[in-house]
Amino acid sequence: MVANLTILSFLFLSASTFIDATTTNATNPHAFIQCFLNSTSSSNSTSKLLHIPSTTSYADVFNSSIRNIRSITPNATMPAIILTPTNASHVQAAVKCGKAQGLRIRVRSGGHDYEGLSSVSSGDPFILLDLINFASVAVDATDGTAWVGAGATIGELYYHINVGAKNQTAGFPASICHTVGVSGLLSGGGIGTMMRKYGTSADNIVDAVVVDASGTLLDRKSMGEDLFWAIRGGGASSFGIVLSFKINLVYVPPTVTVFQVQKTLSEDVTKLVGRWQKVAPRLDDNLFIRVLVNAIGNKEKGNRTIQASFQSLFLGGRQELLSILDKSFPELGVEAKDCTEMSWMNSTLYFAKAPKLDPTFLLNRNPYSNSSFKAKSDFVKKPIPAEGLEKIWKFLLEAVDDSVQMVMDPLGARMDEIEETAIPFPHRKGNLYNIQHYLGWPTNEDSQKHLDWMKSFYNFLAPYVSKSPRAAYLNYRDIDLGRNEKGKTSYRKATEWGQRYFLNNFKRLAQVKAKVDPDNYFQHEQSIPPYSIN
Ligand SMILES: Cc1cc2nc3c(=O)[nH]c(=O)nc-3n(C[C@H](O)[C@H](O)[C@H](O)COP(=O)(O)OP(=O)(O)OC[C@H]3O[C@@H](n4cnc5c(N)ncnc54)[C@H](O)[C@@H]3O)c2cc1C
Ligand SMILES: *[C@@H]1O[C@H](CO)[C@@H](O)[C@H](O)[C@H]1NC(C)=O
Ligand SMILES: *[C@@H]1O[C@H](CO)[C@@H](O)[C@H](O)[C@H]1NC(C)=O
Ligand SMILES: *[C@@H]1O[C@H](CO)[C@@H](O)[C@H](O)[C@H]1NC(C)=O
Ligand SMILES: *[C@@H]1O[C@H](CO)[C@@H](O)[C@H](O)[C@H]1NC(C)=O
Ligand SMILES: *[C@@H]1O[C@H](CO)[C@@H](O)[C@H](O)[C@H]1NC(C)=O
Ligand SMILES: *[C@@H]1O[C@H](CO)[C@@H](O)[C@H](O)[C@H]1NC(C)=O
Ligand SMILES: *[C@@H]1O[C@H](CO)[C@@H](O)[C@H](O)[C@H]1NC(C)=O
Ligand SMILES: *[C@@H]1O[C@H](CO)[C@@H](O)[C@H](O)[C@H]1NC(C)=O
Ligand SMILES: *[C@@H]1O[C@H](CO)[C@@H](O)[C@H](O)[C@H]1NC(C)=O
Ligand SMILES: *[C@@H]1O[C@H](CO)[C@@H](O)[C@H](O)[C@H]1NC(C)=O
Repeated sequence: MVANLTILSFLFLSASTFIDATTTNATNPHAFIQCFLNSTSSSNSTSKLLHIPSTTSYADVFNSSIRNIRSITPNATMPAIILTPTNASHVQAAVKCGKAQGLRIRVRSGGHDYEGLSSVSSGDPFILLDLINFASVAVDATDGTAWVGAGATIGELYYHINVGAKNQTAGFPASICHTVGVSGLLSGGGIGTMMRKYGTSADNIVDAVVVDASGTLLDRKSMGEDLFWAIRGGGASSFGIVLSFKINLVYVPPTVTVFQVQKTLSEDVTKLVGRWQKVAPRLDDNLFIRVLVNAIGNKEKGNRTIQASFQSLFLGGRQELLSILDKSFPELGVEAKDCTEMSWMNSTLYFAKAPKLDPTFLLNRNPYSNSSFKAKSDFVKKPIPAEGLEKIWKFLLEAVDDSVQMVMDPLGARMDEIEETAIPFPHRKGNLYNIQHYLGWPTNEDSQKHLDWMKSFYNFLAPYVSKSPRAAYLNYRDIDLGRNEKGKTSYRKATEWGQRYFLNNFKRLAQVKAKVDPDNYFQHEQSIPPYSIN
């Protein structure tokens, strides 16, 4: 206890900004720290895991995984405390103490949440639990599985299961971006270049270790199938704190092939994208071709045009790829010289735009990104007719900003086979592709005009995409879809966004929530409230 008091006074030394913080309940952080140090006193170094605004480590830890500075405004509420636990018992203590002191917890894995909900809040004081120290990856080669720490990045995951485990044919279906965190990606679904063969990332989770709202440490057996279902696509943040996932590794052939071909308006983009919509979702499950559409060039220079970039991963060799394309998509005109054979590991570097094919690049978590973005998402069930595509190009050509992009990821194949209710991620059969509408800008100023543009683009697209409800992908979180009202939220209110992310799985998610966290301790602007009839 004496040691704890020393630590406390150390932490609060010149901590006036902390104590005076008007946005936090000043009594709580103090009591939380006392409680936390008390409950973890067996390991007397736990004070080092606490970072408060007056400690020098605070800004570094806070900034270590910020991906979108749009949400880091002077108006945002910063964490009262950042905690970087190294042991499950610290997380259990944090939940118990947080609950006892009326302070909520936000958890951060890779920090890529599109609305910054893992780093700041819109008013509620909170503790930020950053899982950076839970980043180990342990492969079990005998059964082709791995336990992955909840704070690892997808790049670390790729590296350790393949290069680390010395197995060139071990892969995992996850994101293209390697700095995305395992927890957000896996617990929210996870779409990428291998989903047509193996489903979403979440479809490949076989076990998990979770701390629930009472601070109990659970695995799949002790948590039960309802909670285990919810954290595979429902977003873990409403249900508990995941410490690790056990995943099934998938087989990737020793040689894969990649290509990228770019076409502009004068090269018949409309016809090609029109055809792509029909072909890409029906291709062989080894073949993934996505399209990135954006406006390039300059109006004054008279060379403004639409560019469609077709990017592909084929789980096989060049010759086989060319013969498939020759049969199903000859219009694209892909030739042998466009195709590069490489290992799957190297293909992840290719997609990550690594400067050279060196797998250790994937271990770089790329701290701090200095720009802002806003994104929204759609699912498309019927091919957009040529006139529709042309109207979309026109809208993009008139956009004030060049960094507007539509990322179209084809679904189909394995994505169609998995039942809509298998896990909370519901966007299965009947969907042709997902679109991410993305707009980036370099600072966190002038956000409003960009947000307004994005809203108008989204409204304009309504006739071409899924309806009733207009579906959205949880991991492309969009706060415009709705938010919990401070202090009072309801199942009905949350249906506004919940049904769009989860379709008919939303009700079951709320029912699981009522069972595992009836007090709604784990909550944020877009968390799932416990089910109730109103
Ligand atoms: C550059 C970029 C590229 C992307 N590419 C893809 C892609 O290819 N495919 C795709 O599907 N998605 C992609 N995404 C979206 C990505 O899947 C989501 O943003 C995802 O939620 C990020 O996970 P994270 O762990 O990095 O984020 P975080 O911000 O750390 O977490 C996201 C949410 O999960 C909660 N959370 C985090 N860890 C835990 C935990 N251990 N327990 C409970 N709750 C937790 C957080 O509180 C937050 O609500 C991309 C995002 C970015 C910014
Ligand atoms: C911490 O422990 C001491 C002594 O065991 C106790 O008096 C005190 O109330 C505890 N504080 C909290 C916040 O739990
Ligand atoms: C802290 O722990 C170390 C070993 O983990 C021990 O040697 C030391 O005496 C402890 N200090 C206090 C003040 O409890
Ligand atoms: C880091 O965070 C602080 C706020 O805690 C902020 O003022 C600073 O600009 C951030 N950026 C860098 C690169 O340190
Ligand atoms: C911050 O809050 C003030 C007052 O509520 C508001 O006028 C202002 O627009 C907000 N700024 C940002 C960047 O959100
Ligand atoms: C966590 O702490 C417990 C008890 O002190 C210990 O047995 C366990 O090995 C620790 N786990 C990790 C991952 O350090
Ligand atoms: C601060 O937290 C304490 C303990 O939970 C509570 O009693 C008090 O009402 C809170 N104060 C404010 C201003 O929220
Ligand atoms: C490599 O991993 C894949 C996927 O788990 C598996 O199919 C294959 O048998 C493994 N190879 C070796 C040599 O362990
Ligand atoms: C448009 O023209 C400018 C100036 O000639 C040139 O720098 C730019 O690269 C061109 N852009 C495209 C997309 O052709
Ligand atoms: C990736 O490509 C580089 C350059 O061709 C090669 O040296 C390296 O062995 C490849 N790495 C893997 C893991 O396949
Ligand atoms: C952030 O952006 C500013 C202005 O564009 C630049 O001067 C600064 O070096 C950048 N900081 C980081 C950490 O990237």
